Amino acid sequence: MFSNIKDQELIFRNLINGNWTNSKSGKFIEIYSPIDNSLVGKVPAMTTEEVDYTFECARKAQENWKNTPINKRAEVLYKAADILEDKVKDLTYIMMLEIGKDNKSCESEILRTADFIRFTADASKSLSGESIPGDSFPGFKRNKISVVTREPLGVVLAISPFNYPINLAASKIAPAIVAGNTVVLKPATQGSLCGLYLAKVFEEAGVPAGVLNTVTGKGSEIGDYIVTHRDVDFINFTGSTEIGTRISKITSMVPLLMELGGKDAAIVLEDADLDLTASNIVSGAYSYSGQRCTAVKRVLVVDKVADALVEKIKEKVEKLSIGNPLEIDDVNIVPLINSKAADFVVELIEEAKEKGAKLLVGGNREGNLVYPTLFDYVTTDMRLAWEEPFGPVLPIIRVKDKDEAIAIANESKYGLQSAVFTENINEAFYVADRLEVGTVQVNNKTERGPDHFPFLGVKASGIGTQGIKYSIEAMTRPKATIINLVERK
Ligand code: NAP
Ligand code: G3H
Repeated sequence: MFSNIKDQELIFRNLINGNWTNSKSGKFIEIYSPIDNSLVGKVPAMTTEEVDYTFECARKAQENWKNTPINKRAEVLYKAADILEDKVKDLTYIMMLEIGKDNKSCESEILRTADFIRFTADASKSLSGESIPGDSFPGFKRNKISVVTREPLGVVLAISPFNYPINLAASKIAPAIVAGNTVVLKPATQGSLCGLYLAKVFEEAGVPAGVLNTVTGKGSEIGDYIVTHRDVDFINFTGSTEIGTRISKITSMVPLLMELGGKDAAIVLEDADLDLTASNIVSGAYSYSGQRCTAVKRVLVVDKVADALVEKIKEKVEKLSIGNPLEIDDVNIVPLINSKAADFVVELIEEAKEKGAKLLVGGNREGNLVYPTLFDYVTTDMRLAWEEPFGPVLPIIRVKDKDEAIAIANESKYGLQSAVFTENINEAFYVADRLEVGTVQVNNKTERGPDHFPFLGVKASGIGTQGIKYSIEAMTRPKATIINLVERK
């Protein structure tokens, strides 16, 4: 099934100014698999001096890169997309080992990312400015014209999470570099083998020295240092609300683009197609064991159809495949990323049980593997109603009507996405208009793609908007050059 990467020792280095570099400290971080705790590989633990040098190189490289024609920058992206596709088998294997994702989802993440990179290259060609005549504003004449172009921001610090180590790194790198920025990527430590592999893909595609650089090290050790570094012009972060909030507190005068946590609700109205609804809820809640920002993390169902819906959901949850992604193709429930994550999910499960929620399926754990868990009659005094488990546990909250569903949905501190299931378009818009989220899905699970759609969280779920065109816009700024023509009498 897999090619020769299988028996290789994965000792990866950082890409700094075009060179593959180890830390002078000689220190490595060992990466263990969440599947069986075996050693997968090592990445360097970089020192602050090495971080300084990396940013210095990125800063210098930006001077040339911003003047490189857009079509040349786009060429690098097209090549990177092709190489990424060629490497899909090897990278799928590394990703499975490193983050425990099933092979089909790893493969689709990689192929989706190749498409993302190509689409970004295409989109860069329509980067354009405008010219604005002065005389449209009262008191000004036609001799004043503003020529507005788009300029890169400088050095972008890209910080990615563990759960989509290729897609959520590339979706920062590609728009940033095509717009003329240089990038320093700090991948999640658990996910850094994938992140460095991706950097290798860009390097092979011909990204010039210093345009893409990587920094590895634990966020708890080097995180504060890199986000407050004087050479950072923009931070594009995806991860937890906790770390995102910390970054926004300790940084100053640096624009931020952040994708954070969520507690996406699936709201089910009485006229919903319950088969379609149950299928969407189960795949939305449990794929990759619920370790997706956009996972369905609560169901708000009106009393009238609650019994029927719960029965259909339960049936499907009981059929989910569970286990080791190296042994079971396309498995739904895999071990969680680490034991701390599993401990947290179990804590939420236990509290819901104690407070009287009805456990319908699961509730048990073996090592990092938490079995798919379904609760009915979850109430708003339980942590499971509000907290993001990032694990395979779904609470069902019964409500009397759509207004109660909307009220509970909006009481959350998060505002990433919500779904509404109904056959009535007026009802769908009634609910969608009132939800405090970035995106509402009508009759579909909550999900990010397709990647050219705007993707954003409100409240504690993020700052700014991603999506191919939106990310390029976020990582450029307008520059106005004003022509003042001499008036001829
Ligand atoms: P995380 O613990 O917040 O880590 C995210 C990234 O931040 C990692 O690269 C981490 O590095 C780094 N980091 C840690 N401490 C830092 C600090 N003080 N300063 C700067 N960077 C620091 O999140 P995660 O566990 O990887 O991902 C799960 C979370 O991400 C969930 O809450 C999920 O909802 C959210 N997420 C949101 C989206 C979205 O689009 N809204 C998408 C995916 C995930 P280390 O790994 O070295 O600690
Ligand atoms: O974890 C967050 C990802 O951006 C979710 O993407 O909805 O395609 O799984 P997805």
